[in-house]
Amino acid sequence: MVLTQADAKALCVTCHDDKVKLIQSAKVQHPGAMGDCTDCHNPHASKTPGLPKTDAVNICLGCHAEQTEQAKKSNRHQPAFGQGCATCHEPHGGDNPKLLRAQGNALCLECHGPDSKPQALDAEHVLTLFNGKVKLPEDYYQKNKVVILPLKYGLGHPVESHPVSDLMDPTNITKVRAHINCMTCHQSHSSAKPGMLVKDQENNMVFCDSCHKNRSNMKVMQ
Ligand code: HEC
Ligand code: HEC
Ligand code: HEC
Ligand code: HEC
Ligand code: HEC
Ligand code: HEC
Ligand code: HEC
Repeated sequence: MVLTQADAKALCVTCHDDKVKLIQSAKVQHPGAMGDCTDCHNPHASKTPGLPKTDAVNICLGCHAEQTEQAKKSNRHQPAFGQGCATCHEPHGGDNPKLLRAQGNALCLECHGPDSKPQALDAEHVLTLFNGKVKLPEDYYQKNKVVILPLKYGLGHPVESHPVSDLMDPTNITKVRAHINCMTCHQSHSSAKPGMLVKDQENNMVFCDSCHKNRSNMKVMQ
């Protein structure tokens, strides 16, 4: 029997109409999921229909040229180019901008935060993140040496008592005095230098100077 593309999708839909609904009605849609299920899934494997056509990284790189370039940089973020793009992105569509599984710092703190608490599913030997949506091998944290940041009340990285989230104006608590978050300093996928800093910068005082004009008093911003 020869399956045409249209037949293949119709076949999947008979059992997975929930996914089709999600793809079509998600708040933030993924144009890459509008075509066929078989753009990403292998329809031939009867035992494991979920088998990606290639692997958890290349399945996305096939359509995403910018990230294919980022993959060539020497310092690659493990979840992006090791674990797989869907660790942080919802492949079928989701609620957040850029299809992210959580917004703002929460995405990064799911792994690097002091409150990071992956749920163990002992029966399956996996850990789950993002309310069960992402499954990781049970030894993921030890094996990949995931760094847990010493944060308290949004302070404490990259140096003691440094802010990692927006600072409010003490005279008007609805006004942001200084905008700052993980992505102010870091790239999410890779970098040409260790530390994954923005614009492929080196981890040195010149990087600090990009915000601090006065090395002798870093509590003052001018
Ligand atoms: C069949 C092609 C195709 C595949 C496969 C594909 N994408 Fe996409 N993706 C697109 C297109 C087209 C867009 C919309 C144009 C753009 O933003 O690049 C898009 C958009 C996105 C966006 C939103 C970009 C933005 O600026 O808001 C993300 C994130 C994304 N894709 C991630 C992924 C991930 C993760 C995978 C693998 C699970 C994947 N894509 C696989 C075609 C694809
Ligand atoms: C852009 C690539 C892409 C397309 C297109 C796509 N998927 Fe997926 N799908 C994935 C990835 C990556 C995973 C594994 C990560 C995850 O579960 O979020 C997955 C997981 C799944 C799962 C198992 C996990 C779960 O959430 O239940 C099912 C079932 C599934 N897809 C069905 C479908 C169907 C049916 C279609 C077509 C209507 C489809 N997918 C289209 C990328 C895609
Ligand atoms: C006859 C019903 C049926 C059809 C047709 C079908 N599936 Fe499934 N699929 C299932 C069942 C049952 C499971 C297991 C569900 C579970 O484990 O929760 C499954 C699981 C999956 C998974 C997850 C596999 C994993 O390893 O976690 C993916 C992805 C998937 N199907 C994609 C597809 C795609 C793509 C098609 C069309 C080419 C398709 N399915 C056609 C019934 C079907
Ligand atoms: C560690 C979490 C994480 C992983 C894993 C990840 N991404 Fe992203 N991705 C992000 C974040 C965060 C952004 C938003 C970047 C920003 O706002 O500067 C993003 C943005 C994007 C965009 C939109 C373009 C852009 O630069 O804004 C695309 C497309 C994308 N990612 C694709 C991928 C692909 C393909 C993979 C796998 C190779 C992947 N992502 C893996 C976190 C991740
Ligand atoms: C799924 C878990 C996970 C998530 C989510 C995650 N990371 Fe990571 N991250 C890792 C692992 C594993 C490593 C260690 C492997 C390595 O050194 O690349 C790492 C390493 C890093 C490093 C050190 C890189 C270096 O060059 O030493 C930085 C910086 C980083 N992550 C920032 C982020 C940011 C920013 C986000 C959110 C966009 C994020 N991480 C989200 C798992 C995660
Ligand atoms: C003000 C800039 C800045 C902000 C904001 C920032 N970082 Fe960093 N980060 C750095 C610098 C500089 C380094 C390299 C120095 C070091 O290793 O401590 C670094 C290193 C890291 C490392 C590797 C640490 C190690 O010991 O290898 C991780 C993981 C990381 N950052 C995650 C994050 C996450 C998650 C956030 C948001 C909660 C964040 N960073 C916010 C500047 C920043
Ligand atoms: C993205 C901009 C940015 C970068 C890059 C940056 N900082 Fe900061 N830093 C801030 C902001 C904002 C504050 C808070 C200033 C305030 O309270 O008004 C701050 C505060 C500080 C403080 C005072 C903390 C306290 O005890 O109140 C120190 C020390 C400091 N930074 C050191 C560094 C060092 C070292 C680097 C380089 C590794 C660096 N910063 C990189 C934005 C940045």
